[in-house]
Amino acid sequence: MNIDYVINPTDLDPHDVFELFQRAGILKPNKTIGRISRSMKGSAVIVTAWHNNRLIGYSNAISDFSWVGHISQLAVDPEYQGQGIGRNLVEKIKQTLGDEVSLMVHSSEVAKDFYRAIGFKDYHDMFVLPRSR
Ligand SMILES: CC(C)(COP(=O)(O)OP(=O)(O)OC[C@H]1O[C@@H](n2cnc3c(N)ncnc32)[C@H](O)[C@@H]1OP(=O)(O)O)[C@@H](O)C(=O)NCCC(=O)NCCS
Repeated sequence: MNIDYVINPTDLDPHDVFELFQRAGILKPNKTIGRISRSMKGSAVIVTAWHNNRLIGYSNAISDFSWVGHISQLAVDPEYQGQGIGRNLVEKIKQTLGDEVSLMVHSSEVAKDFYRAIGFKDYHDMFVLPRSR
């Protein structure tokens, strides 16, 4: 299957990202079109995956391009999961940020073993000031 990856797409429609999140089952009430759009504008890197001009994978991260990068969102269309697309999206984020950057993520419960499988280490020396909404 020919999957095209685009790094930092210039014409990505937040509605398409919204629909992908819906299909992937990660559409919480706080994931509105406006908030997705703001997240896209504030990202250091966005990687998208396409099949037949359909958005089937998305990930974005924030970063200082020096020490840290933080994956904000990651989703692969359920019809395309289990084919290495999630791994490729994260790998392209890592390549774009460079090898001086540690990549972090606040994982959903179901994705923890995915991150372990692609090389992320459990790391307990971390503090979070949670958002309120
Ligand atoms: C998590 C997600 C992005 C994984 O994408 P994917 O394209 O299916 O993953 P890949 O095919 O690249 O898998 C890479 C490796 O992770 C493993 N893996 C994938 N999902 C896994 C899971 N849920 N549990 C355990 N291992 C998993 C695969 O077996 C593979 O390991 P291998 O290379 O040793 O065979 C995808 O399942 C998804 O979009 N889920 C819903 C949204 C979500 O939870 N996002 C994360 C928010 S933090």
